[in-house]
Amino acid sequence: MENLQVMKSDMLNEVSSVQNMKAWDELRVALLGKKGKITEMLKALSALPLEEKIARGKELNVLKSDIEKALEDKRNQLAEAELNAKLQAEKIDVTLPVRPENQGRIHPVSKIYEEIVAIFGQMGFEVAEGPDIEDQFHNFNALNMPANHPARQMQDTFYIPNPKSADFDDSFVVRTHTSPVQIRTMENKKPPIRIIAPGRTYRSDYDATHTPMFHQVEGLVIDKNITFAHLKGCLYDFVKAFFELDDVPVRYRPSYFPFTEPSAEMDIGCLKSKSELKIGAGTDWLEILGCGMVHPKVLQAGGIDPNEYQGFAFGVGIDRLAMLKYGIPDLRTFFESDVRWLKHYGFNPLDFSSMTGGLSNNGGAAR
Ligand code: PHE
Repeated sequence: MENLQVMKSDMLNEVSSVQNMKAWDELRVALLGKKGKITEMLKALSALPLEEKIARGKELNVLKSDIEKALEDKRNQLAEAELNAKLQAEKIDVTLPVRPENQGRIHPVSKIYEEIVAIFGQMGFEVAEGPDIEDQFHNFNALNMPANHPARQMQDTFYIPNPKSADFDDSFVVRTHTSPVQIRTMENKKPPIRIIAPGRTYRSDYDATHTPMFHQVEGLVIDKNITFAHLKGCLYDFVKAFFELDDVPVRYRPSYFPFTEPSAEMDIGCLKSKSELKIGAGTDWLEILGCGMVHPKVLQAGGIDPNEYQGFAFGVGIDRLAMLKYGIPDLRTFFESDVRWLKHYGFNPLDFSSMTGGLSNNGGAAR
């Protein structure tokens, strides 16, 4: 009978010289398959006398498990080598410049978002976030709009049933404004607070200047001795920076929001003609945002003592700013995902918005 030791070292040599998965599989079949060498030897055991059968059986089983182990190790080694070769072949140099014909565009809403973050970032504001699906406490109650408050009807709210409660007051909403982030911020942070909260908002409305989903940016400043003058200075600096103009006339009209007192709407000066809207000059006015001093009840709802702290807040429509700054006539087109539109109104992804390097990189706004 063959010397098993010699046979084993021959087999191990064969295993170690295998170069690829195909050869590996062939060798596995040749050794351990139904008609494989080791299988045949195991089959032949039955013809031997009992004593010999036991001794030879033991040796063959050791051989079999050693070869199985060697094959398994080899397979892992081959798989790893194959993966490495694949990774090497698929390597992409991410530092290569973009091919001009493949370049994507930045959506105007994203561009305005970046511009707003750049402006307020330089003024020392942090970006805060809240969920799109809100409870009524954060979207209404804590903002001084208790159940049945008439101001709830000002916003055409989409309600979402609460699976845990049939009570309408427990139902959720998709936030109708970014103001709930004011409350969430106060709940988690002690003053001084200086945040902006850009994000998606939802109201049941649809025409050339309204879409059911739109974007707002909320601003909130809370500290000791904050006054309406701080609000005016901050927003005046914002509109100048945003429209990339040395001066923009602004005016404040008294208004009403349940969560601010006093409340105002800010208009900017412009010139409206049949075909053009020019920001910054002329005798016309355009409303761009709502603002006011944070209502004492709102501070209280956020766990802040109104006798110690005051604040101001504002809310701006991001899409509306994009329409104004980049002369886009219909808001609905923003969300139609038409690549031709995006090619026309979109921005170069490599032009970052910054206060020092240029905001829009188009040399000023008000086209
Ligand atoms: N949340 C208001 C709206 O959506 C805007 C606003 C925010 C007004 C903050 C005042 C202060 O219309």
